[in-house]
Amino acid sequence: MCGIVGYIGEKKCVPILIEGLKRLEYRGYDSAGIGTIEDGECKVYKKTGKVSQLEDKINGREIKTPLGIGHTRWATHGAPTETNAHPHFNGKNSILVIHNGIIENYATLRKALISSGFNFISETDTEVLVHLIDSFKKKGFSLFESVRYALNEVEGTYGIAVISSDEPDKIIVAKKGSPLVIGIGDEENFIASDVSALISYTSQIVYLEDGEIAEVKKDSFCAKTISAVDIEKEIHEVTMSLDEISKGGYPHFMLKEIMEQPESIRNSMRGRLLHKEGTAKLGGLVGFEDRIADSKRIIITACGTSWHAGLVGEYMIEQFTGIPCEVEYASEFRYRNPIIGKDDTILFISQSGETADTLAALKEAKRRGALCLGVVNVVGSSIARESEAGVYIHAGPEIGVASTKAFTSQLIVFALITLLIARKKQLSHVDGKTIIKEIESLPEKIEKILKLNDHIEKIAEEFKDSLNFLYLGRGYNFPVALEGALKLKEISYIHAEGYPAAEMKHGPIALIDKNMPCVFLAPSDSVYEKIISNIEEVKARKGRIIAITSENDDKIDKMVDYTIKIPDTIRMLMPVLSVIPLQLLAYHIAVKKGLNVDQPRNLAKSVTVE
Ligand code: G6P
Repeated sequence: MCGIVGYIGEKKCVPILIEGLKRLEYRGYDSAGIGTIEDGECKVYKKTGKVSQLEDKINGREIKTPLGIGHTRWATHGAPTETNAHPHFNGKNSILVIHNGIIENYATLRKALISSGFNFISETDTEVLVHLIDSFKKKGFSLFESVRYALNEVEGTYGIAVISSDEPDKIIVAKKGSPLVIGIGDEENFIASDVSALISYTSQIVYLEDGEIAEVKKDSFCAKTISAVDIEKEIHEVTMSLDEISKGGYPHFMLKEIMEQPESIRNSMRGRLLHKEGTAKLGGLVGFEDRIADSKRIIITACGTSWHAGLVGEYMIEQFTGIPCEVEYASEFRYRNPIIGKDDTILFISQSGETADTLAALKEAKRRGALCLGVVNVVGSSIARESEAGVYIHAGPEIGVASTKAFTSQLIVFALITLLIARKKQLSHVDGKTIIKEIESLPEKIEKILKLNDHIEKIAEEFKDSLNFLYLGRGYNFPVALEGALKLKEISYIHAEGYPAAEMKHGPIALIDKNMPCVFLAPSDSVYEKIISNIEEVKARKGRIIAITSENDDKIDKMVDYTIKIPDTIRMLMPVLSVIPLQLLAYHIAVKKGLNVDQPRNLAKSVTVE
């Protein structure tokens, strides 16, 4: 996601900012920008694409100034263009703002600011911050106070840095829900969204907490809460290596991304749940809701993990909306002669938004007049641009080749789409509210499951030398069985198959002996007793069993080799929880086999070829 870096001291700021931005590149971004104060005026340099392209753009200019801020943007509101890139500035070009996070009430604030005469040039939520700060400065407040007052009017999340040509001896920074640190130097100070941007300059770090704001000068800093209470901040000594830090302290991106899931799914649902109405609000589908609800059929098309998310989506849509739904591999869909037309809605699911088969299927479906919607992670990607409308999953950049957090975010978006359509059809207000409550409880439940990491690592040690694995689940957990098997295949190169548990007797049961581990998805739901029978069948053939069960289950413990206990939720949301232990199991097995977890052999993160 977006990155922030800033410098105030005695050196030229630009090389420091460029190096800091390069350190943040691993997070993924689509444009970059730098803002400085030169000869008493704010100056802004922006470029879409890579930081090196921004560097080329600035090269050759004599910029001596020792104060500047820099940003890498990963588009959320508005396409990745130079206008939408940060820093944003006010009309007089006297205030520059860079921002990570999402201002949820930006539309209301923007309207109010426009009617007070402020002129907007970008499509971003960030630009409201600039004008809001400006509106307080115009009333005579200092930069610090203006930022503080502005933030009191804002709903959502932010890590921000602000500079002004009127007070060119400081950077104002603040944080809520998006990280912001201050790096302490000698006659120089730094700010950044991530310690990795600063580690080659200083190891003395101050971590801002949510709701805190600080004024950073070259030789001092002071902090308050945004309700103006003074606070003493502690300076921490950071000892991590650069490599460790860029992975947030985790040994691999995949583990980092697994661990990020409480936060990434929060980002997927943020601002999209209408509690009072018991439904969802999806900005990207406004104007299309009735057409979707009136569709004769919904088709979901995708590849890989996104296809598995689509299978869960099918169960949700059919259970709650009554609209027939089918899921198809994009590669098959594009080459047969699918019978589709104007009454069909087709959802194209893709983390990267660039998968060639999914993109080609989209073009074909569009040609045939179906309503084509994208469910995509990467903003401004080809599938996002090519679709008529859609929903971004907002999982943040996913770097590990094996998809983890994008999957759970895709499931959240499916739940929101289902809620939106179902409430237009047969779902009651009360049931809508129950679903919302359950969706909101998921991040905390995932946190609980992530605490089982050590237990799962021990299980991985036991099974790392197995040559085959079987994953079995029913109903909503059948697609999770497929996804668990795929995760293991992708990164550990162990042969693994996912099956609907009841299908086991039609083939896979022939494979079961003492060398065949079976992973059962067995939460306490409507098919629990049936799953118990399947477990018995495997046990009778001496198969070894790992079972994912509900927290309060004590029956399965006695029947199997290992249990991994997870919290309960409603059936439609169970995959968001039950997939987490399977991601961790695959991860630990691969690590124990000494394999390259983040870049497994032969696989690519974004498959842009057929
Ligand atoms: C590749 C990746 C998978 C991903 C699939 C679909 O195979 O390795 O992790 O699930 O592509 O990618 P998409 O970006 O369209 O979701």
